[in-house]
Amino acid sequence: MSDIPHLPQGFDIASEFPIVARWRFFNHAGVAPISARAAAAIEQFAREARDDAYLTGRWYQRAELVRRAAAQIINADAAEVAFTKNTSEGIAFVANGLQWQAGDQVISTAVEYPSNVYPWMNLARRYGVEHIMVGERDGRIDAADIFAAVTPKTRMIALSQVEYASGFAHDMAAIGRFCRERGILFCVDGIQAGGVLPVDVKSMNVDFWSADGHKWMLGPEGAGVFYCRRELLNKLEPEIGWMNVVNASDYGHYDFTLRSDAKRFECGSYNIPGVLALGASLDLLLEVGIDLIHRRTLALGDYLCDQLRQRGYQLVSSRRAGEASGIVSFVDPQRRHQQIIQQLEKQNIIIVEREGRLRASPHFYNTADDIDALAAALPKA
Ligand SMILES: Cc1ncc(COP(=O)(O)O)c(C=O)c1O
Repeated sequence: MSDIPHLPQGFDIASEFPIVARWRFFNHAGVAPISARAAAAIEQFAREARDDAYLTGRWYQRAELVRRAAAQIINADAAEVAFTKNTSEGIAFVANGLQWQAGDQVISTAVEYPSNVYPWMNLARRYGVEHIMVGERDGRIDAADIFAAVTPKTRMIALSQVEYASGFAHDMAAIGRFCRERGILFCVDGIQAGGVLPVDVKSMNVDFWSADGHKWMLGPEGAGVFYCRRELLNKLEPEIGWMNVVNASDYGHYDFTLRSDAKRFECGSYNIPGVLALGASLDLLLEVGIDLIHRRTLALGDYLCDQLRQRGYQLVSSRRAGEASGIVSFVDPQRRHQQIIQQLEKQNIIIVEREGRLRASPHFYNTADDIDALAAALPKA
């Protein structure tokens, strides 16, 4: 427990995250609380919109700062980042934007969240694309198993950076390198990683990365980010509306010239309150630093795992270096999961069940005391 890195000096948990007054919240892998700063951004937007309509808020200029912060979180250039309404929309940009041939293969895992399954099943239905799902073993997916599934027909590997039900973090650098060396596209559902794990789309050789803000990035639902590697921007057919073009504000002079940056994927008006609130939380995350957030969240998770083992729970999540994430999945040998969740909720402690496993996902602002309270509230297994 003494190994848990400290929060920055003066960081006031209760004012940054008012949720701590009511809940010990361990479901950041589900829908996270928004930060107080994000709530303030929404309130500010509401006041501006109510009192001045769009006249004083400079919302679209402020959104550009959010784009820059989002780019920084994943080490992209702002010109490679588009706003989306959620993770699924970004993945749909990829699935629906590329030209597919019958027999093309997309490889993912058999334990993906459906946002990274149905788009590929849909391609199978529409074009005869083959969707291959590599299985999990003991809460892990060996990169070697993924590589073994690759054939000359493999067009894309599409993975969650962190798997939602096990918390397994893929070796992004190894998979990205493998893909780039073979001309295979690498598409990543990043929602379980962005804001808590280091993401470097450049060194990880990621081609496409998509995440909504409502988990580890501590934004509201419905405002997400999509990264498309610069060299691929013109390889994806965008959904077309009024805003994708160079002279979008020259309404009556129709000039269908697509923008050269990632804004070419943005077909119309933004979810401004969502984007500005996401920006406020991203600024907070960047201020604290992703490296500290990552180290602290892993240390809290490790501390929880120690206590779970002592209490007789079976750990599903790999805690090996590079494979651990913000998610701790575990099993009660007596399978009293729903009963446990309800008991905890009565004590204002929130965990969930996913795929037959209990799942606790603390974020960096949780404390060792929170973990102690969770462990003490869990019945001996
Ligand atoms: C891995 C993963 N992808 C995507 C989502 C959500 O997708 P969206 O942002 O499209 O609602 C979740 C939510 O639980 C998830 O765990």
